[in-house]
Amino acid sequence: MKKLQNKHIVLAISGGIAAYKSADLARRLQDAGASVRVIMTESAQEFVTPLTFQALSGNPVVTAGSAANGMAHIELARWADLVLVAPATADFIARLIHGRADDLVAALCLATGAPVAVAPAMNRQMWENPATRTNIQLLDQRGIQRFGPAQGSQACGETGYGRMLEPQELVEQCATLFDSGRLQGVSILITAGPTQEPIDPVRVITNLSSGKMGYAVARAALDAGAKVTLVSGSTCLTPPERVKTVRVQTAQQMFDAVHERLDDTQIFIGIAAVSDYRVEEPAQSKLKKSADTLEIKLVKNPDILASVAARNPRPFCVGFAAETDHLEDYARKKLEQKRLDMIAANLVGGETGGIGTDDNALLLLTPHSKVELPRAAKSQLARQLIEHMANHYFEQKNPA
Ligand code: CTP
Repeated sequence: MKKLQNKHIVLAISGGIAAYKSADLARRLQDAGASVRVIMTESAQEFVTPLTFQALSGNPVVTAGSAANGMAHIELARWADLVLVAPATADFIARLIHGRADDLVAALCLATGAPVAVAPAMNRQMWENPATRTNIQLLDQRGIQRFGPAQGSQACGETGYGRMLEPQELVEQCATLFDSGRLQGVSILITAGPTQEPIDPVRVITNLSSGKMGYAVARAALDAGAKVTLVSGSTCLTPPERVKTVRVQTAQQMFDAVHERLDDTQIFIGIAAVSDYRVEEPAQSKLKKSADTLEIKLVKNPDILASVAARNPRPFCVGFAAETDHLEDYARKKLEQKRLDMIAANLVGGETGGIGTDDNALLLLTPHSKVELPRAAKSQLARQLIEHMANHYFEQKNPA
């Protein structure tokens, strides 16, 4: 069956140069099985004419000028299974965040009960502006789906983040939103966040992991119908309701919490940034600053993921690899050395960030395949990861 068979998609177009790509997008959404109806802001019509979209979608396009009875956007809001705003300009995102209804597309987004997804497209500086950063964070917090933007050369002649994703990438991302229920009844155990290794009663060795990716994967697995247990290091995040959460501090506690729960686990996903070493003998009372130098002896922690993958029988095992360089090489080595079924690798450090950010890009490797997931909100990446993982899990469970 086609990915978007029988889905009603409202393609909403705001006024940016990337609107020319939306003509191709309208076509590809239909090729994937969707019925498409188009709504345009006034400024979008400066870039592409409604006639183009009418011809491509086979339906009249809703614009301020065409909405004779004044209710066309409400009708569309009810008809939609998904509202996809592509391109979504910085101005449109700002208006969406503030709940404005001063044009038909913003009003439609307010009036619909369907999920709303935006594909940002703007100049690099606009994307990096603190006002846009805040708006994007609010967008992500409110559960509005965000696809991209990608990095690359822009119509304005600059290079950086802000390019709208390519039409086929947007089609793939839309398809993940309709994938619920695939993991019905499957038990998934996920580790997330950093671990903390005590030095003394008030000091720890830890890392910069925020837990955002792990929590996003827990939510995506839950949305796909799985029974999810999250073993989490210390984070400021609230786990999704219906996820059973076990809080731990150290790598050893995480190891124990995981192994206690493996009998009932079909898929294990290790996303935690586990401290590779712990202090051999943490001080019982607070260390005082006396000597000029201080030596602390560290000993190796158990590798939780490798220990789960070494069990027999074992769950389907997915690991994460955060690397500053040689991404694919290092990740493939970890996949092989730890005998994993899949690994998700991302670049950290430098401009790409990764740790603590709201966006990420992932390279998914299995022993025989490789897929690149372009930069997107972690919530959206998590959905894509779960979709790919489910494919491999069922392939392995029920070989053709
Ligand atoms: N992991 C684990 N237990 C550990 C260390 C890592 O379960 N003690 C898991 C992480 O959750 C992640 C993967 O292993 O899924 C990361 O692999 P690893 O090789 O340990 O990554 P790094 O610690 O970053 O390794 P290195 O420092 O050698 O790059």
